[in-house]
Amino acid sequence: MDAIEAILTRRSIRVYAAQSIPDNLIHEFLEAGMAAPSANDRRPWHFIVVRKREILEGITKVHPFSDMLKQAGAAIAICGDRALERQEGYIVEDCSAATQNILLAAHARGIGGVWLGVYPRSDRMEGIGRVLGIPDTVVPVSIVSLGYPAESKPRENRWLQERVHIDHW
Ligand SMILES: Cc1cc2nc3c(=O)[nH]c(=O)nc-3n(C[C@H](O)[C@H](O)[C@H](O)COP(=O)(O)O)c2cc1C
Repeated sequence: MDAIEAILTRRSIRVYAAQSIPDNLIHEFLEAGMAAPSANDRRPWHFIVVRKREILEGITKVHPFSDMLKQAGAAIAICGDRALERQEGYIVEDCSAATQNILLAAHARGIGGVWLGVYPRSDRMEGIGRVLGIPDTVVPVSIVSLGYPAESKPRENRWLQERVHIDHW
């Protein structure tokens, strides 16, 4: 699958088969996350790979839209370290770019995933911080739920001509 095909066919997959994801694939997804563009090349991210069932279940108790984690093979929490940013404010963009890279890498390898928003919801940030033991100076930005797909979704045409402006609004 080439990059454009991966981008255009990726969908949120929330139903998974009970099959564990090999470590080498998780490693590849983390490498994809770390390859993302980053403001000032600070790369302020940390990744928490969660495989333990009780921790995946723990996340579902503090995140209202994360029930799919009960079946997930793994999750990756993408966090931004405030101590590593140079100009305040870019860690969210950096971690979001890493999140999308992980989703696309997973899709390219036949693993389904979905982005779970954490930042800027303070209740989720606090709850996820507690469940995953994240230090106060580190911001949990998102979680990617991963698993072998047990649902399939078609490619959608999302082209909106009226959102395209050439040279001027
Ligand atoms: C910032 C962000 C937060 C999201 N949070 C959740 C979430 O908490 N739970 C969930 O099931 N999906 C979540 N999603 C996935 C969206 O619902 C999904 O991307 C959207 O419906 C489009 O569908 P698609 O991913 O299949 O293209 C989130 C996506 C983004 C970008």
